[in-house]
Amino acid sequence: MLIALLPGDGIGPEVIAQAVRVLEALDCGLTFETAAVGGAAYKKAGHPLPPATLDLARRADAILFGAVGDPECDSLERAFRPEQAILGLRKELGLFANLRPAKLFPELADASALRPEVASQIDMVIVRELTGDVYFGEKGMRKTADGLREGYDVMAYNEAEVARIAHAGFKAAQARRGKLCSVDKANVLETSQLWRDVVNEVSADYPDVELSHMYVDNCAMQLVRNPGQFDVIVTGNLFGDILSDQASMCVGSIGMLPSASLDAAGKGLYEPIHGSAPDIAGQGKANPLATILSAAMMLRYSLEMPEPADRIEAAVARALAGGARSFDLGGTVDTTAMGDAVLAGL
Ligand code: IPM
Ligand code: MG
Repeated sequence: MLIALLPGDGIGPEVIAQAVRVLEALDCGLTFETAAVGGAAYKKAGHPLPPATLDLARRADAILFGAVGDPECDSLERAFRPEQAILGLRKELGLFANLRPAKLFPELADASALRPEVASQIDMVIVRELTGDVYFGEKGMRKTADGLREGYDVMAYNEAEVARIAHAGFKAAQARRGKLCSVDKANVLETSQLWRDVVNEVSADYPDVELSHMYVDNCAMQLVRNPGQFDVIVTGNLFGDILSDQASMCVGSIGMLPSASLDAAGKGLYEPIHGSAPDIAGQGKANPLATILSAAMMLRYSLEMPEPADRIEAAVARALAGGARSFDLGGTVDTTAMGDAVLAGL
């Protein structure tokens, strides 16, 4: 099995290195090929997603991705900014279903921004649509009739896009506790009205799943008030981006949340939900656990290797139980030593 490693920018290479150590220790027949992506690729090859990188991503059985984003590239024309690499990969590979599980490791109850008794209830998956919405609509800068500069980004979803992510949400709920909450802003947005109508239509295929609908503002509030009520949340690209960052702090740290981005056939790109964190890059302060847990998701979802996936997750729990705490978790254990702690727990 060929794994494409796309470390990217900032802390990306540091966290990917630890995940690779863990995968190599499991010795499950994986081969790795690395390619540049994001700002690193722009600096090397003049484009954030060079053809060779896209080609490797297509050839590989699965992709392990670090992070993209580099302040030195923020003034480039948008097409050359690092973020375009991950957006391009999602679009080009049809990775429309983004699964972002959020579960509290009991050892981290104190690291949560919530009271331990509230945080301990959290065990959910956010299913985020990843190839549509305002992210990929028509966008640009124009002048108003009064000569004012105006930026615009069109939010749009067609019914086929909503239906396929709705199916992914219902299936995720079937595999868990059977509860699906669809999050939208149907009280204001037409996009959301269509979303809600289509989710209701699709629900006819899943009589065993209990469906509810929630406005996104209320969902942001409920995630902090009573996150234990959620099993699976299905939502659009923009709302999912925001809610998943919020969910990450409820379980302790954004440095803990892995994700899988899947196409219709189950091929996937796996990445921590955190970004490139340029402020701490190169200092050994990054928490590699989200990437290590992403590697576990990769084994489970794309490579059909549930046993090594279980071993990784158990090893992370052991490392935390043994007291390993990176800086984001209030500790002083550096990136490599966090990797060591997981390796010791395998
Ligand atoms: C994420 C990130 C990306 C997104 C950025 C880097 C383009 O925030 O994966 O959540 O907005 O989707
Ligand atoms: Mg995000």
